[in-house]
Amino acid sequence: MKPVRRRTLLQAAIAAIAGLVTLLVGGPLLAFFADAWRRRQPRQWVKVCDLAELNSIEPTHFRVVFKLDHLQGGLEEVRGVYAILTDKGPLVFSNVCTHMHCSVRWLAWRQQITCPCHGGFYDRWGQLIGGPPPFSLPVYEMQVREGEVFIANAYVARNYL
Ligand code: FES
Repeated sequence: MKPVRRRTLLQAAIAAIAGLVTLLVGGPLLAFFADAWRRRQPRQWVKVCDLAELNSIEPTHFRVVFKLDHLQGGLEEVRGVYAILTDKGPLVFSNVCTHMHCSVRWLAWRQQITCPCHGGFYDRWGQLIGGPPPFSLPVYEMQVREGEVFIANAYVARNYL
């Protein structure tokens, strides 16, 4: 039998430790991503309003309901959105402030959307004007079908204006 060299023993020990660390860190990470994948919400389209309800001057507030069928208990998620007409069609965006998630409101007298929590301001298209929010309000993926406006439970890049 050949004598085992010290270097070989050291390499084996390092490999064993690296394997253990990979297992300890990688296992929970893998479980996290597997769980997120299992819980991910399938794409869903819901009606927001009739096209005729919108104008290009002021955003109109609507409530939409997404079904969370992929979770046990058939839960629903109610979201507030604003919709306004643009040259390129309807624009539907979230009413949730990008700073700390307060609900924003359209103030007709200021002709701005404002956040009551810390004074964030957005224009009528939901684009950031000022205050602490880091980003403009997220825009929903949208379709118009036979005069009705639908959104998906997904955001798109803000490239409307
Ligand atoms: S949550 Fe809207 S400005 Fe802070």
